[in-house]
Amino acid sequence: MSFEPKILGFLCNWCSYAGADLAGVSRIQYPPNIRVIRVMCSGRVDPEFIFDGFEAGIDGIIVMGCHPGDCHYLEGNYEAEKKFNMVEKLLSFVDMNERIRLEWVSASEGNRFAEIVTEFTDKIKELGPSPVKDPSKANVLLKNINALKMSAVSYRLRALVGRERALTEQENIYGEKVSLERFNDVFENAIFDEYVRNRIVLSLKEDTKSVKDLAIELNMDPSKILSHILILKGRSQVSMDKIVGITPLYISTLEE
Ligand code: FES
Repeated sequence: MSFEPKILGFLCNWCSYAGADLAGVSRIQYPPNIRVIRVMCSGRVDPEFIFDGFEAGIDGIIVMGCHPGDCHYLEGNYEAEKKFNMVEKLLSFVDMNERIRLEWVSASEGNRFAEIVTEFTDKIKELGPSPVKDPSKANVLLKNINALKMSAVSYRLRALVGRERALTEQENIYGEKVSLERFNDVFENAIFDEYVRNRIVLSLKEDTKSVKDLAIELNMDPSKILSHILILKGRSQVSMDKIVGITPLYISTLEE
């Protein structure tokens, strides 16, 4: 039996949704796999929505908005692009970054809408069902997707996404401007660090563990794990539960 992917589309009300509507009234054929959620602007698509979709077993997610310069809220689609880039980087840690797409479709581009949906559906068919549906992978993968979602909504990453244009395009009061290259370095490190930290928090929620246990589980250097633990302690996300022999065991303070 051929695989029919479930595709979720977030379409901005003013351009892409109208483009989809035009495709419909013009009877342009496209695969019926897409389920559309209308949002007022592509900038309204919170990264959390995308991770929620993948947790629910969606095979592919597409976000569509007005062409650059045409957003009805001026810069919503620029914000959408920044958030999308962050989500794409986060999803690359679980090898699911090819399952998302960002496209610009105007109200008069019914044909373009149909072409994009057709091409994206074919791409997802090629990739196969979401690995979340594979019982042998689901357990670990869902935990990792949860860690990605926690990272995406963290204050640090939200602040970096929200400040990127101001930091790289405008001078601060000292006349300094951060280069895009430098910003991207900082951002990429922050994305990876937050992901590791959230994996630590989720792991310690299941059981108390030592730095060494976590280093083995996450396949990382113990000194790196320790530095993350110290930061998480400073944020009150992790605390020391007990000492066994001379080994401290840590626990997550994360509530349900
Ligand atoms: S209104 Fe369409 S992307 Fe903002």
